[in-house]
Amino acid sequence: MRKRLDVAIAGEINLDLILYGLPEKMPVEHEILASDFRLTLGSSSAILAHNLAALGVSVGFITLLGKDALGAMALDRLAEKGVDLSKVKHASGGVSTGVSVLLNHASKRHILTYPGTMFEMVVGDLDLDYLATSRHFHLSSLFLHRALKAHLPGVFRQLKARGLTLSLDTNDDPEGHWGSPLDELLEMVDIFLPNEDEARQITGESDPEAALTALAARVPLVAMKCGSRGALVQKGTQRWAVPATPVAPVDTIGAGDSFNAGFLATWLRGEAPDVCAAFGNRVAALSTLCPGGTESFRDPGFMNSFLLRSQ
Ligand SMILES: Nc1ncnc2c1ncn2[C@@H]1O[C@H](COP(=O)(O)OP(=O)(O)OP(=O)(O)O)[C@@H](O)[C@H]1O
Ligand SMILES: [Mg+2]
Repeated sequence: MRKRLDVAIAGEINLDLILYGLPEKMPVEHEILASDFRLTLGSSSAILAHNLAALGVSVGFITLLGKDALGAMALDRLAEKGVDLSKVKHASGGVSTGVSVLLNHASKRHILTYPGTMFEMVVGDLDLDYLATSRHFHLSSLFLHRALKAHLPGVFRQLKARGLTLSLDTNDDPEGHWGSPLDELLEMVDIFLPNEDEARQITGESDPEAALTALAARVPLVAMKCGSRGALVQKGTQRWAVPATPVAPVDTIGAGDSFNAGFLATWLRGEAPDVCAAFGNRVAALSTLCPGGTESFRDPGFMNSFLLRSQ
């Protein structure tokens, strides 16, 4: 069958409300003033869809939305980049689209999330025939898909049997269990994209390099994100340390998802793992230059001038 999409993503969508310049200690019953505020497209799955499409990859996105203005605005941001949204579902009943409030305190941040519809999406909301028209399927935020989680091994199995390659970024497990269905999914994915903390928690190894070794024994290609140090990539027993692109970040919200976008866009062109990670780092660095995870990708002139510059 002719593949219509490069990447299909099923996942959560929400806006991020970002406040800057807050103190780390915030007493109750006091008005605490922020120095700046942004409302922008957030959520790991939607950030990846947006930024992949901005990079010229054809993307299809399935999500469950509430019938509310914030959800509509989030969807508009994906439409602006030409993401195929033909299979998006709206929740029945009164469940609203989720929202994240991010409180920035210099280098640290609080992330407060109301999951909303992201907890409600079920396997029946996914059109598998549609997903199967893609070359590749990606899943982010595994542990936020509360109603979908148990059915994901079946979805992955079917898509793999229909010839798709698969990638996974769990992001954090808010409950810290790192349990089912993670092991089953790791047996099936072609690419795993954790950060250092996640790799350590999943494997029980305190040393990130040992965690990478353990994961690389289970997954053909692992790209482990290491914040301002860039990324470590391993394929079989071959390992590459790929340094970050030096920048002065406004914030690092969505940097991991932007790394995934750069990495996957390059991998789909058949490039070597270190080349994929180098572009992943560059795309991640770009995302840190503007507030949130998608603002740097909205103006093609700004995006391309950074991505094409020599260093
Ligand atoms: N200070 C920085 N300077 C340059 N690049 C950075 C910086 N911080 C992060 N990056 C880039 O962003 C990538 C992802 O960062 P990080 O390790 O924080 O991932 P993450 O924790 O998965 O992010 P997210 O919070 O988006 O899920 C890094 O691999 C690196 O390329
Ligand atoms: Mg991440």
